[in-house]
Amino acid sequence: MRFPDGFVWGAATSAAQIEGGVDVDGRGPSVWDAFAARPGAIRDGTDAIVAADHRRRWRDDVAVLADLGIAAYRFSVAWPRVQPTGRGAANEPGLDWYRELVDALLAAGIEPVVTLYHWDLPLALEDAGGWPVRATADAFADYAALVGKALGDRVARWCTVNEPWCASMLGYAGGQHAPGRQEPDASVAAAHHLLYGHGLATEALRSSVAVPGREIAISLNPYPVVAAGERPEDLDAARRVDGLANRWWYDALLRGAYPKDVVDDLAAVTDLSFVRDGDLAVIAAPVDALGLNYYRRYHVRHAAGASAVAEWPGSPDVELVTPPGPTTDGGWAIEPEGLTEALLRVTREYDPPPLYVHENGAAFDEPFDDQDRVAFLDAHLRAAHAAIAAGADLRGYFVWSLLDNFEWAEGYRHRFGIVHVDYDTQARTPKASARWYASTLAHNALNG
Ligand code: FCB
Repeated sequence: MRFPDGFVWGAATSAAQIEGGVDVDGRGPSVWDAFAARPGAIRDGTDAIVAADHRRRWRDDVAVLADLGIAAYRFSVAWPRVQPTGRGAANEPGLDWYRELVDALLAAGIEPVVTLYHWDLPLALEDAGGWPVRATADAFADYAALVGKALGDRVARWCTVNEPWCASMLGYAGGQHAPGRQEPDASVAAAHHLLYGHGLATEALRSSVAVPGREIAISLNPYPVVAAGERPEDLDAARRVDGLANRWWYDALLRGAYPKDVVDDLAAVTDLSFVRDGDLAVIAAPVDALGLNYYRRYHVRHAAGASAVAEWPGSPDVELVTPPGPTTDGGWAIEPEGLTEALLRVTREYDPPPLYVHENGAAFDEPFDDQDRVAFLDAHLRAAHAAIAAGADLRGYFVWSLLDNFEWAEGYRHRFGIVHVDYDTQARTPKASARWYASTLAHNALNG
């Protein structure tokens, strides 16, 4: 089962989940530092002060990537390392380290893919209102310009924002992610400002990135939605969740308008008065590529009051259920066909730019011989292949994750890495899945 010539095989990480090194470079505090310090916020009581100690051990990690033959590495820049308070002049030591990292990747023949925002908002910006406030999007544009200027002579592939649905709805409505607010109206403002910030950052990168083959993207996390029940209310619950998780983002970015039914659902919590004339044109300015992160589908039904305080602003009566069948650690159902579905849905309904799977992977607590992860990745790559065969313009795949890491509110309980991290010694050991992935990408094909 061959992949198209030039298919990009990558691995992904994010700053807050692996870097640690919060005392290096003059980095400022982030919302995740503050959130993790709250008793009860992180399931295993941990934080990301050390994490996988990547800030100090990054050379080892570049060597691991090179040994596996991984062609592209998607990582994020920590905004608080570049602007410790989220505003003002660049903190050069922070940028210098990213320059060094990029140079080391390029020297090893690995293409860097730089994500500007993977959820680690500088705490000072949250103290000034966070993403619900428009000024945060303006600040993000300034930050994007600084990073674009520093790395734009050597990095071609960019991602502005990772999973704005999580950043807004989990951060400001559900509250299970930083900054841990439960304000449905503010979460919708955050959603809009993350998109608006993406649009502004895209403009900033267009004027600062000079490398041929420049490719600016955003990473979304579409969830194919399945109604778990046949009552009209169940179908309506599925429509609502599809609206908030998928169509809100696709419609804004690829059609320049928010979907009318979602706007109507949201009237229960917000009048969207923070949306200004011209914002949607900024949001919908063409991108060169679209990143999709896929882990699972959502199965939903109607249940009165089930999500009164949860990640579905304006839709308090929707409930997520786990379908029968195998799951990863953490209870996410294993449904590779959902990846085919997600790739084909956007292809057929939205006429998107070239697609990448920017993240796909699984949590399994199998330290070294992780055959469950091998099976998971194999099945999902087959599902991606099926989407290509059916017409999706999929150009690459990034496994989540290169390393075991700090899995947000779950702490270190969930291991997503193809490379094992021993948190006592920080030793890195490639798992069976890493060797399997290395052989798959070397052949640009799956067996059989
Ligand atoms: C995604 C995040 C990523 C990681 C995976 C498991 O939603 O983008 O950082 O936590 O889930």
